[in-house]
Amino acid sequence: MAIEVPKESPTHVEEGVGSNKTFGQKFKRHCPRFWWIHLLILILIVLVVTLPVVFVAYPHIAQSEINKSRLVVTSQSLLNPAPDAFDLQLNSVFLSNSSLHAQLDAFKADLCLEGSDVPFAQLSIPALKAANGTEENVSQRVQIQNKQQFYDYAKTSLLSDEYVVYIKGKGGLKYGKLQKTTVNYNEKIVLKGMNGLKGFNVTDFELLTTAQPDGSNANGTVFMPNPSMTTYEMGNLTMDMYTDGVLIGNSTLHNVVLKPGNNTLPFRALTNQTAVVTLLFNKYKCGVFPVDIVTKRTSYNGQDLPYYDQALQSNNLTINLNVIEVLEKAGLAGYLGINTTNTLPC
Ligand SMILES: *[C@@H]1O[C@H](CO)[C@@H](O)[C@H](O)[C@H]1NC(C)=O
Ligand SMILES: *[C@@H]1O[C@H](CO)[C@@H](O)[C@H](O)[C@H]1NC(C)=O
Ligand SMILES: *[C@@H]1O[C@H](CO)[C@@H](O)[C@H](O)[C@H]1NC(C)=O
Ligand SMILES: *[C@@H]1O[C@H](CO)[C@@H](O)[C@H](O)[C@H]1NC(C)=O
Ligand SMILES: *[C@@H]1O[C@H](CO)[C@@H](O)[C@H](O)[C@H]1NC(C)=O
Ligand SMILES: *[C@@H]1O[C@H](CO)[C@@H](O)[C@H](O)[C@H]1NC(C)=O
Ligand SMILES: *[C@@H]1O[C@H](CO)[C@@H](O)[C@H](O)[C@H]1NC(C)=O
Ligand SMILES: *[C@@H]1O[C@H](CO)[C@@H](O)[C@H](O)[C@H]1NC(C)=O
Ligand SMILES: *[C@@H]1O[C@H](CO)[C@@H](O)[C@H](O)[C@H]1NC(C)=O
Ligand SMILES: *[C@@H]1O[C@H](CO)[C@@H](O)[C@H](O)[C@H]1NC(C)=O
Ligand SMILES: *[C@@H]1O[C@H](CO)[C@@H](O)[C@H](O)[C@H]1NC(C)=O
Ligand SMILES: *[C@@H]1O[C@H](CO)[C@@H](O)[C@H](O)[C@H]1NC(C)=O
Repeated sequence: MAIEVPKESPTHVEEGVGSNKTFGQKFKRHCPRFWWIHLLILILIVLVVTLPVVFVAYPHIAQSEINKSRLVVTSQSLLNPAPDAFDLQLNSVFLSNSSLHAQLDAFKADLCLEGSDVPFAQLSIPALKAANGTEENVSQRVQIQNKQQFYDYAKTSLLSDEYVVYIKGKGGLKYGKLQKTTVNYNEKIVLKGMNGLKGFNVTDFELLTTAQPDGSNANGTVFMPNPSMTTYEMGNLTMDMYTDGVLIGNSTLHNVVLKPGNNTLPFRALTNQTAVVTLLFNKYKCGVFPVDIVTKRTSYNGQDLPYYDQALQSNNLTINLNVIEVLEKAGLAGYLGINTTNTLPC
């Protein structure tokens, strides 16, 4: 910006001719008469310096600080699931090395998987103070924005050891007395996944020899490790069990809530004992059956949850079940003329 200083008028020039006054003296005389010029120049200088700071540098610094900050998820829960929505509890910590403590407005955050611009869900993030260590706990009903993206999210979080979700959006940022500026969010969040439920096992399997009200003839416990920080409420899971492609039974897990850490869940099963005994005598003489566990349906309050169905169906689990041990415990081995000490190799 050019600042034009008005030329001195001729009357002043005459006064100065031939005089040997010092610059200081001239300045002192000059000042009272042209104080308004100096004031104008001062104001212009202040504006020239501060306007770019306020309108260019400040928004840039604000954006740069947001870019450098991190949001670390400390725990997460997906509860009360429905085909198109779920309750989300997301606890996170805002981390920043900046000493500038800005106030961030509430904003709508799109949640996207890495490599996708289509959000699987949208969150309302409440206003927060952007200081290092600020806790941000969000608890709300979240609508699934895009079914295919949410299926991918469920599958990715089940199968991966680690996965990335982006929080995208824009919102107001206010620092001290400065005017509000708008910043863009594109926070990369690294989350631990379920790692394909590695370690899944049937740790107890018991044949029930008396009639059961629900028609089942076996029960037991499954061991389901969840190495993530996320709690998944899944409702009722029904699974089919196959050995060698032969359906040997089905099982139901009621009211499943998969918490972080090791989960031990009870199940009830209906086994086809004709199929089991046939396999035992014809192929698995050692008594150890490889059992493929295939999820048929997850349902919550009578509603199917296709995202969990698809995720679990992409991850068939196989366990080894010692059928002779199960029969012995039920007191049926002797009846079949078998026991764990006289088993034949498979
Ligand atoms: C902030 O990050 C985005 C990419 O996420 C980039 O395009 C932008 O230039 C960055 N802005 C600043 C001020 O660092
Ligand atoms: C803060 O600075 C440390 C050391 O330079 C760095 O390791 C860390 O990632 C920074 N944290 C954030 C949130 O920028
Ligand atoms: C920010 O907070 C984290 C965790 O509370 C801490 O480890 C880190 O040292 C803090 N960084 C600064 C720059 O204060
Ligand atoms: C956020 O949730 C965590 C874990 O439940 C809790 O320890 C913390 O106090 C909560 N913070 C706020 C600000 O509500
Ligand atoms: C599964 O559980 C059974 C019964 O507790 C145990 O004998 C077996 O070693 C376990 N299998 C694996 C792979 O941990
Ligand atoms: C299986 O059912 C029997 C009989 O009802 C019960 O005693 C046992 O505790 C159950 N086992 C499991 C693992 O739930
Ligand atoms: C289990 O199998 C039986 C017999 O095939 C069938 O009647 C029943 O509906 C199945 N249960 C589930 C939960 O799939
Ligand atoms: C979970 O189970 C695994 C395998 O049995 C074990 O190594 C691990 O220590 C257990 N973790 C917890 C937190 O109990
Ligand atoms: C049980 O298995 C046998 C042999 O595989 C089969 O013929 C029969 O239909 C099955 N029964 C039921 C109820 O599925
Ligand atoms: C699971 O099934 C049982 C029995 O059918 C039912 O009472 C219960 O409400 C179901 N649970 C959920 C979460 O839908
Ligand atoms: C899981 O098993 C079922 C039944 O055997 C099969 O149809 C399906 O293709 C398998 N899924 C995968 C991912 O292997
Ligand atoms: C196992 O069965 C064989 C004959 O099939 C019998 O000689 C043996 O005593 C049985 N062992 C046990 C522990 O029941």
